[in-house]
Amino acid sequence: MALATRAAKPPSLIGSVWRSTVGKKAVMAVTGLIMLAYLVAHMLGNLKVFFGAGEFNHYAAWIRTIGEPFLHHEWFLWLARVTLSAAVVLHGVAAYQLSRRDLAARPVKYRGRGRGRASYATRTMRWGGVILGLFIVWHILDLTTLTVNPNAQEGRTYENLVASFDRWYVSAFYIAAMLALGLHIRHGFWSAAQTLGVGSPRRDRLLKALANGLAALLTCGFIVVPVGVLTGVVS
Ligand code: HEM
Repeated sequence: MALATRAAKPPSLIGSVWRSTVGKKAVMAVTGLIMLAYLVAHMLGNLKVFFGAGEFNHYAAWIRTIGEPFLHHEWFLWLARVTLSAAVVLHGVAAYQLSRRDLAARPVKYRGRGRGRASYATRTMRWGGVILGLFIVWHILDLTTLTVNPNAQEGRTYENLVASFDRWYVSAFYIAAMLALGLHIRHGFWSAAQTLGVGSPRRDRLLKALANGLAALLTCGFIVVPVGVLTGVVS
């Protein structure tokens, strides 16, 4: 009787990419760039707050109508929400797994400032990532679901924003998170370029300048909003 031998199922391409270290780094690079694109658009949109309540609330209402009538009301917004949520989760999980792998690969556990301790950039990225994760949870509860917002009126995005930033400690938290965001983008953009093979000795100076410029632009562009509220320019 012939023995029925079942051939081992070949691993899927997606599975192999996800399991490899370089694959996880590529996932981090691509999801990071997706979030970066969102942040540039979000920062520019936020600056409309300096044009007053009417313009800002009109802008917030317009976001919900993008793609109409081809798309139903808010469908584009939901598509963006799902894409961003997937990007955040994949980015976070890949970062966590890569850092576990990095630790496991060390032959001896070092303490203090030993040779095997994670570099300054790695530690900044880890802590920056955790702060940003907590910030995003607070930010959505504050300005999207309005759960922790003192004004909490749907459709009155401008008034909700001013009510939130009027509390100095909330503005201070936002500003601290934006500084963490700047550091995260500065190193993250540079790492993503290296992972995706864009870097070269000739291009590295330009890439570093681009990473610094983007980080500074986003940090300042976001921070001016709470500063505007605290100084009474936006009220
Ligand atoms: C001072 C800086 C910021 C201000 C003033 C601000 C303002 C806002 C406002 C007003 C909304 C509600 C929009 C609406 O419902 O129409 C919002 C939503 C959101 N913001 Fe920000 N934002 C800031 C920074 C950030 C940063 C740094 C991130 C990401 C790291 C971020 C991610 C989001 C997300 C994911 C939403 C939810 C979008 C949605 O699902 O409707 N924001 N933000």
